[in-house]
Amino acid sequence: MGRGQLGIRGVIRNLVKIKEIKNIADVIVEIGGKKVDIKGSDVKYREWTLFKLIAHLLYVPLYTSIIKNYFKEHYYIDLFAGSGMGYLERDNRRIRIAGSALIALSFAKPQFTRVYLNDKEQERIELLRKRIDILANIPHEKRKEYGFPLDTINTQYIKFSFQDANIAIERIMKEIEERHEEIYKRTKKGCHIYAFIDPEGLELEFKSLRRILSSNVRSDLMILFNSYGVALQVHNHINYDYSDEAIRKHLGEEYYNYIEEQAKQRGKTLEQLTVDELDDILTEYYAKMIEEYGYKTVIIKLSLIGRVKSPRQEREFNLIYATKKTKRDNPYIAALNYIKEVVEYPARDTGYSNFMDLAIEYMETGKLPGLLSDIIDKPEEVLRRYSTSAKFGGPVI
Ligand SMILES: C[S@@+](CC[C@H](N)C(=O)[O-])C[C@H]1O[C@@H](n2cnc3c(N)ncnc32)[C@H](O)[C@@H]1O
Repeated sequence: MGRGQLGIRGVIRNLVKIKEIKNIADVIVEIGGKKVDIKGSDVKYREWTLFKLIAHLLYVPLYTSIIKNYFKEHYYIDLFAGSGMGYLERDNRRIRIAGSALIALSFAKPQFTRVYLNDKEQERIELLRKRIDILANIPHEKRKEYGFPLDTINTQYIKFSFQDANIAIERIMKEIEERHEEIYKRTKKGCHIYAFIDPEGLELEFKSLRRILSSNVRSDLMILFNSYGVALQVHNHINYDYSDEAIRKHLGEEYYNYIEEQAKQRGKTLEQLTVDELDDILTEYYAKMIEEYGYKTVIIKLSLIGRVKSPRQEREFNLIYATKKTKRDNPYIAALNYIKEVVEYPARDTGYSNFMDLAIEYMETGKLPGLLSDIIDKPEEVLRRYSTSAKFGGPVI
C-alpha cells in the first residue's frame, strides 16, 4: 500500500474499534452464560495490553484484504493464544475484552484459510474453543445489533493444541510447508503466514523464531518482546553473575557481543549500562536478528507507555512487527508506521493513563470522550499536533 491508499484518518478512525473488542467478549457471555464468562484462568490485561490489541486489530483486516491478491492461502498462528478473553480492571469493575485469537477471527476479511491456536494450558484452550463456537454461531440479527465486523467463521479450519509453543511450532510449520509445496506446484501461488506471538515472558526460544523466519513459506510476525524482563536479567548477569542460560535460549548466543559493542559506542562499560538502556539495546538487537533473515521490522514501543505511569514492577514489553522484504516496496511497512503512531501517540501526547481512562469510558458508554472524539470528529486538528506522521509518508487525508 503506497502513500495515500491508507489515509491516516482511516487508521485513526479505526481506533473506535476498541469498542468492538469489548462487544465481542460481552455478546459471547450474553449468549453462552456463566460457563464462558471471565474465569480464574483468564488473563488480567495489563496497562499496555489494549495497545497491543489495537495494533493487532488494525493489522488483521489490512493484512487479510491485501494478502489474498498475492497468495493462494493465508494462515494465522497464535502460539500463546490464551483463553480468548481477558479483562481490564478499573475501580473494582471488570471490563471484558476479546483477546488476540478472537480478534483474528472477527476482523479477518476474508477469513484465514486455516487458523492454528495453541497455549500450553489445556484449560485455556478448552475455554477458547467454547468461546469460538459461540462466536461462530452468533445469529445474524445479533451481529447487526452489535455492529459486528464478522464474516462467517468456519470452525472446521481452526486447529487447537495445548503444547509448549517451542514444540508446537515445529508441527505447525511442517504442516503448512507441506501444504505450501503442494499448492505451489499446482497453482504457482503459495501460502502466507501471519503469526501473533504473545508470551508471558521469555518462553519463546530463538530457535523457534528461527524456524518461522527461515522457512520457505513467507510470514509476517507480531511479537511481544519482554524488553524489561530481558534487560533486568541481563543486568543481573552482568552485575551479579546470575546465569544467562535462559537469556541465551531466548535471544540467541550473539546477544552479549552486541551489548558489548553498544556499551563501547556509548563510552561506557557493561556495568555502567542501566536497565533502561539495556531495554532499548536488546529490543534493537532482537529486531536486528530478525532482519538477518531478510525481514524488515517496525518497533512499537509499548515500554514508552509503561514508563509514563506504571510502577517498575509492571513488566514492560515492546511490540516488534516483522515482514519479509520484497523486491518492490512492502505495502505493510507504511501501514505499520501509521499503526505505530496511533499506538505511541497517546502515550507521548496525552499521557498514557488519561488515554486509558478515556478509552475505557468510551468502551463502557459508547460515547466518545474528549481526545477520541477529537480524533474522529476533527482529525485535521489532531493531525496538526500529530506532526511526526509526515515522516512516514503521510498524512494523506
Ligand atoms: C499474555 S498471555 C496470551 C494472551 C492472549 N494472546 C490474548 O490476547 O488474550 C500468554 C499465554 O501464554 C501461555 N504460555 C505460557 N508459557 C507457554 C509456553 N511455553 N507455550 C505455550 N503457551 C505458553 C499462558 O498460558 C498464557 O495463556
